[in-house]
Amino acid sequence: MRQIDRQVYGPWALVTGASSGIGAEFARQIAASGINVVLVARSQERLRDVATSLQRDHHVDTRTISLDLGQDGILDRIAEATDDLDIGLVVSNAGAGNPGPFISLPLAGLREIVQLNVITHLELAHHFGRRLSERGRGGLVLVSAAAGAGGLTYMANDSATKAYPLSLGEALHEELESAGVDVTVLVPVLVKTPVVDRIGLEAIDLPVDAISAEEAVDEAFTALLEHRPTTIDRERLAPLFAEMKGAVITAISKRLAASRPAH
Ligand SMILES: NC(=O)c1ccc[n+]([C@@H]2O[C@H](COP(=O)([O-])OP(=O)(O)OC[C@H]3O[C@@H](n4cnc5c(N)ncnc54)[C@H](OP(=O)(O)O)[C@@H]3O)[C@@H](O)[C@H]2O)c1
Repeated sequence: MRQIDRQVYGPWALVTGASSGIGAEFARQIAASGINVVLVARSQERLRDVATSLQRDHHVDTRTISLDLGQDGILDRIAEATDDLDIGLVVSNAGAGNPGPFISLPLAGLREIVQLNVITHLELAHHFGRRLSERGRGGLVLVSAAAGAGGLTYMANDSATKAYPLSLGEALHEELESAGVDVTVLVPVLVKTPVVDRIGLEAIDLPVDAISAEEAVDEAFTALLEHRPTTIDRERLAPLFAEMKGAVITAISKRLAASRPAH
């Protein structure tokens, strides 16, 4: 596990989607470096459990914000809850997917995914990008997905929304560098977290082995500290995406065929 410099990225960090999976692991590794953490997600109970373990194991302070990031107006709540803190690191990780044939999925659900996977990254990157630039040091990590490298059949809205943090982060990596702000994008392919079961990713024959959340976060901090814009560069991402696309179409087509009523 990498040590994160508290002078640069502390004394406080903010992590979204911190109640589970990759986000909870980000919070753990940040706290292990002695940095206090603001934890954001919907489930207040799971946030409290994560906060309790960080305080117990790493003796840091925590603050929890129970918030649905798939709704409008999240920035006011987050700003109000963090304006008094000196935040040096922001991990915009919360995200979700909703695979299936695009036109059969309810529009309201697709809109929520856009709000969560696109607008929330935009608002956090803008708000904290300004604050970090003003203090002249710090870091911003955006969590995308390998699916964001192109249009993925049966994950049309999901892949389109995951393209946003990837592209935004690549651009901000260069744009904020002169202000002393390090920006990187974590591009997960398959990480063992609860979402893998929920979306049925395990059933898809992806071109890589699943890694742990601990390994994924280590990849992100390695890229951040080595001043790389992403954990997987575009040259490696393009062939990976091409293989992944075929596997996703096959798996979801099979699932759809199995769920159709027999005549
Ligand atoms: N695991 C993979 O293989 C994989 C692959 C590609 C991309 N990713 C990306 O990695 C990120 C983390 O996912 P994960 O694998 O750690 O999944 P996870 O275990 O399901 O965690 C998702 C986190 O996001 C939070 N979240 C979801 N919807 C939210 C909402 N509307 N408002 C606020 N918080 C919300 C969840 O908390 P609550 O439910 O408490 O709100 C949870 O803390 C996501 O952006 C995901 O798309 C993961």
